[in-house]
Amino acid sequence: AITRHYKFDIKMKNVTRLCQSKSIMTVNGQFPGPRIIAREGDRLVIKVVNHVQYNVTLHWHGIRQLRSGWADGPAYITQCPIQTGQSYVYNFTVTGQRGTLFWHAHISWLRVTLYGPIVILPKRHVSYPFLQPFKEVPIIFGEWWKADTETLISQALQTGAAPNISDAYTINGLPGPSYNCSAKDTFKLNVKPGKTYLLRLINAALNDELFFSVANHTLTVVEADAVYVKPFKTQIVLISPGQTTNVLLRAKSKAPGATFAMSARPYSSGPAAFDNTTTTGILEYEKSPSSASNSNKNKKLPLLQAVLPKFNDSSFAMKFNKKIRSLANAKFPANVPTKVDRRFFFTVGLGTLPCPKNQTCQGPNNTKLAASVNNVSFVQPNTAILQAHFFNKAKGVFTTDFPANPLIKFNYTGTPPSNIMVNNGTKVVALPFNTRVELVMQDTSIIGAESHPLHLHGFNFFVVGRGLGNFNPKKDPAKFNLVDPAERNTVGVPSGGWVAIRFLADNPGVWFMHCHLEVHTSWGLKMVWVVNDGKGRKQKLPPPPSDLPKC
Ligand code: C2O
Repeated sequence: AITRHYKFDIKMKNVTRLCQSKSIMTVNGQFPGPRIIAREGDRLVIKVVNHVQYNVTLHWHGIRQLRSGWADGPAYITQCPIQTGQSYVYNFTVTGQRGTLFWHAHISWLRVTLYGPIVILPKRHVSYPFLQPFKEVPIIFGEWWKADTETLISQALQTGAAPNISDAYTINGLPGPSYNCSAKDTFKLNVKPGKTYLLRLINAALNDELFFSVANHTLTVVEADAVYVKPFKTQIVLISPGQTTNVLLRAKSKAPGATFAMSARPYSSGPAAFDNTTTTGILEYEKSPSSASNSNKNKKLPLLQAVLPKFNDSSFAMKFNKKIRSLANAKFPANVPTKVDRRFFFTVGLGTLPCPKNQTCQGPNNTKLAASVNNVSFVQPNTAILQAHFFNKAKGVFTTDFPANPLIKFNYTGTPPSNIMVNNGTKVVALPFNTRVELVMQDTSIIGAESHPLHLHGFNFFVVGRGLGNFNPKKDPAKFNLVDPAERNTVGVPSGGWVAIRFLADNPGVWFMHCHLEVHTSWGLKMVWVVNDGKGRKQKLPPPPSDLPKC
């Protein structure tokens, strides 16, 4: 294993998309940001220097950060932001993981442009448990906004109304030919006949789950969230913000000069307004020498279009997610906790907060739109929870009374209940080291049906069950899959349904859990787990690095 050094300069850059030029935040002037490459076991030392007029933090999404929580990155959770002119060195080891992850800004909506791939290769001389690909290609999905998203979200939070929606989706920063002025801004992948390509799919979009498909090609899913899975074939992949999926694509043996669309567009289970456009990249076969010289040489073959499900195809979503299974073999065992020490039941969903006095609000019935876990809408403190926890200064920063069950008893009937008010709070769940946790998350669908991609920092969890309607604590656990459940860091809680996850709390620190739809996070669909130190020397969180930013 080696140490790899990166320098990330956060700076503004003018970028033109959809016929308009815009000054955006970038790393080193690149958009999307630079690719981080490491091998399993390597140490990464990333110096981040802030040259912009905004507070910034970066997060290494899906990296377990075993006893290195100071490098995790969510603002006011594990660190105070890096202020203008300041820098911070993120220093961590990639332990027991290999696959595709990504990094992104973790403060307000800055991840709209501050994101890039993380590729973790297996250790030297270790091969993949699938066919060695000829080439590996990161494909990172994003959103392009003409508006200034920082102004937009701060105004939306002021008025209580829903913020606007994006103007385009992008593949590696490029919208593609279905948008105005964008034919030249199209991602192109040139392929050779008969070769196998590993596409490392990453959804970095702010607010939308996406369907992805390549016209006339079958994809083989081999990995999800940097964990190998039992390979399965599919025409379409569903990928939520925060998720990563590796697929193999085998190029046809003969298709000289042919072009196929690689398209992505949203999956949205509810009636809420969303950007219903399609981003397109092009898979292009190399021309054979003979076809280049024959009379067809100036004829462009038509672009074959990809077929994607209807935007609200929830049954596809349920079926697709059920196919993802751990390898669960001797080499890659699924260490699912078979016993449980603590059980939690969380409702996740939207709600409202009362309008402050002397103000008019634009949410339903003069309220502010909000979101919550167990009816608690999380309020960000103005100092970092990890520091407060480490130095025993919780008082005035957070309380450990996060409810294990919803404050308002929940019964999903399909009809919205009348009491949709939530409460504000900065509450955490404190867990002893090595607690085996079972958590059922039930989507409330109170204001419009919405599925929620829930992301947990610091751990991988096993998705042991999922279903529609109310979770039944008497019947459903009997059907849990404790043999080969998907192991991941982000899971879609189905609209009007539930998922059950299990994880071992073996990582001391402060760990954020939130919906990876940025608008829901902003509304408060987030909470924090605090895992206390264990007794052993290797069960304690070391003290913070000396350059940890101050609030
Ligand atoms: Cu990718 Cu807390 O986020």
